[in-house]
Amino acid sequence: MISNALQKARDFEAQYGPHIPDEERPAFHVTPTIGWMNDPNGFSVYKGEYHLFYQYHPYSNEWGPMHWGHVKSRDLIRWEHLPAALAPDQPYDASGCFSGGAAELPNGKQLLMYTGVQRRRDPDGFLHDVQTQCAAIGDGINYEKFAANPVLDEKDIPQGWSAIDFRDPKVWRETDGNYYAVVGDRTDDGSGAILLYRSADGLRWEYIRTLDRCHNQYGKMWECPDFFALDGKQVLFTSPQEMMPVGLEFHAGNGTLCLIGDYDPAGKGFCRQYVQAIDYGLDFYAPQTLLTPDGRRVMIAWMQNWSTVGAKPNRCRWFGQTTVPRELSVKEGRLYQQPVRELEKYRSGRVVHRNIPVSGEVNLPGIQGRTLDMTITVRPTGGESYRWFRIRVAKDGVHETIIRYRPDQGTVKLDRVRSGLPHDIVHTRSFLVRNRQGEIKLRIVLDRFSLEVFVNDGEQAASAVIYTPQEADAITFEAGSTALMDVEKYDLVFDKEE
Ligand code: FRU
Repeated sequence: MISNALQKARDFEAQYGPHIPDEERPAFHVTPTIGWMNDPNGFSVYKGEYHLFYQYHPYSNEWGPMHWGHVKSRDLIRWEHLPAALAPDQPYDASGCFSGGAAELPNGKQLLMYTGVQRRRDPDGFLHDVQTQCAAIGDGINYEKFAANPVLDEKDIPQGWSAIDFRDPKVWRETDGNYYAVVGDRTDDGSGAILLYRSADGLRWEYIRTLDRCHNQYGKMWECPDFFALDGKQVLFTSPQEMMPVGLEFHAGNGTLCLIGDYDPAGKGFCRQYVQAIDYGLDFYAPQTLLTPDGRRVMIAWMQNWSTVGAKPNRCRWFGQTTVPRELSVKEGRLYQQPVRELEKYRSGRVVHRNIPVSGEVNLPGIQGRTLDMTITVRPTGGESYRWFRIRVAKDGVHETIIRYRPDQGTVKLDRVRSGLPHDIVHTRSFLVRNRQGEIKLRIVLDRFSLEVFVNDGEQAASAVIYTPQEADAITFEAGSTALMDVEKYDLVFDKEE
């Protein structure tokens, strides 16, 4: 049964979504057809196709009562919009259907698990949220909320922990046939933890253990967890709120945290060994992963951050987009990420320049554009190292976004001060990269309103949105003293027909 609230959202998006021209949205990053998007939800494989849901408020370009938007894809690059999947239409989710996950059930149906938010009044008269985990079951288009919702509530939380901040179930099916879910919660010290639950049928859940706790070290509440095995290690993702800066690794505010360790399900549980940020750019939050049928762990995230959402282009009719899906790997205790290989199918018009000496600002024949995949390798000319190297993209007489490398400091900096946003939000971010005798490889993926930089074959990634007019499509290179550069550039072309 489709509720009035869901029908209203579907009618609205069908009426207004198609009016936004294709050129006014990214070519292959997911956005809502109309309205607001935040976290990716339910990123999963269902009946041989990739499904992605997202936190969605169709009626404005701002966060509002949360619905779930829905898209699907055969290759993780070209997405088909489907009607909204969930609306807040039950007493237990009247204040929103918050983030969650999805998994295929043995009977061929698709399970969505999400956080239902309800406002309740304290005995002292104050309103506060209550968050419970809820299920909906469907066929890939329409979903029926489970009659006995919620499936997890305050009874299922360790004593004294929070029923107000208990959210974002990420569900998956394990090889033992059971379903597992990780859920974020706030503990008795006021900071986050990730709880693990198990279920035989996806509907009746039991608490298994706490996988890890923040202990006020990495922010406060831990949102949007994910938990998976990769390359012989176990990885726990979370997006902490209220982080304090730590060197160039973590910035203040909403951040992302990748904990890598070992996992002994029957014994000590998860033991973290390595801690790092997931993305070092300006706009990245709430990543979620899936396992592809050919065994790749692929991550997608909200390419935005809560601290930057106030800065929107004037009168934009959609707001919020995802990152490119990224293949993950773990090497020597570090997380690596690269755009999914499916992106390469859409490359065309290869342009290569090799061994170009760069000092003053230059552009090179064939190197421009706003929807492209470009890899640049920079190295010293001889004995002498260069002091810095700058790549300017999305450039015209007024606009530019700069990627700068300083070999002496071992830093890469993103700078979108002049990308065209008339808002005084954070526009620059620097991060440390491994020094390889002054040589660096930067893969830059541009898609109209964003750039994603992958350093040294995915050792670091940094994402940022740029609302620069599309005519600003020049790319230039410049070095302090002289550097040698190779560049290989492809346009990314998406014909209407597959
Ligand atoms: C993270 C988050 C989640 C919550 C959702 C609400 O960005 O705060 O914890 O489920 O957004 O839209």
